[in-house]
Amino acid sequence: MSDNPKSFHLSPEMHTYLLEHGTAPDAIAQGLIAATNELGGISIMQIAPEQGALMTMLTRLIGARRAIEVGTFTGYSALAIARGLPEDGQLICCDVSDEWAKIGIPFWEEAGVRDRIDLRIAPALETLQSIKEDGAFDLAFIDADKPNYANYVEELARLVRPGGLILVDNVLWMGAVIDREASDDNTLAIRAFNAKVAADDRFDCVMLPVSDGLTFLRVR
Ligand SMILES: C[S@@+](CC[C@H](N)C(=O)[O-])C[C@H]1O[C@@H](n2cnc3c(N)ncnc32)[C@H](O)[C@@H]1O
Repeated sequence: MSDNPKSFHLSPEMHTYLLEHGTAPDAIAQGLIAATNELGGISIMQIAPEQGALMTMLTRLIGARRAIEVGTFTGYSALAIARGLPEDGQLICCDVSDEWAKIGIPFWEEAGVRDRIDLRIAPALETLQSIKEDGAFDLAFIDADKPNYANYVEELARLVRPGGLILVDNVLWMGAVIDREASDDNTLAIRAFNAKVAADDRFDCVMLPVSDGLTFLRVR
């Protein structure tokens, strides 16, 4: 059964079919989903399991060793990326809330990836600006405050190596990007961001209807 609003562009039947024909979340991932659901409605912030499976696969496919995440919440996307890294890989997680991130830590431990994750609690832009290893990262994932998306991409364009990948979440914003009536700050920020990166010749840009919309930026 699926009525996941994050996949609003698929019928519930098609979404269920899609879920039934991909690698299912294991017991650890399901445990983290259940723990996050206990938070109530805010759990909608967690990425969908099929997106997690895709991100683990992408991390492996590009042979990522070092990654950065902007927006960790309770750690599901971090778990997905960390599981795709080699044992000596590193994922820097940026979030302002350690209260939420603490929920994920036992699950990272259970999955054996805790020592790959470097959790940094601070405004993400400050964390990114403090990292001076230009070109040292293979993969990045942006899933935090929407008005800062363009600023995050500026820093990540410096930090991610040529040929590396920046993934950007919620780029369809539940369909609001094409709703002429929608003019709230987040919608305006995402629309402007989408137009900007599509025209940015530093990247190959592909937007896919995965969950709430996922943009792939391959650094040229
Ligand atoms: C959509 S949730 C991330 C969901 C997460 N990727 C997952 O799979 O569960 C967004 C997160 O961004 C964080 N956030 C919002 N503004 C931020 C900022 N300026 N710097 C760092 N983190 C921020 C929030 O605390 C929240 O945990």
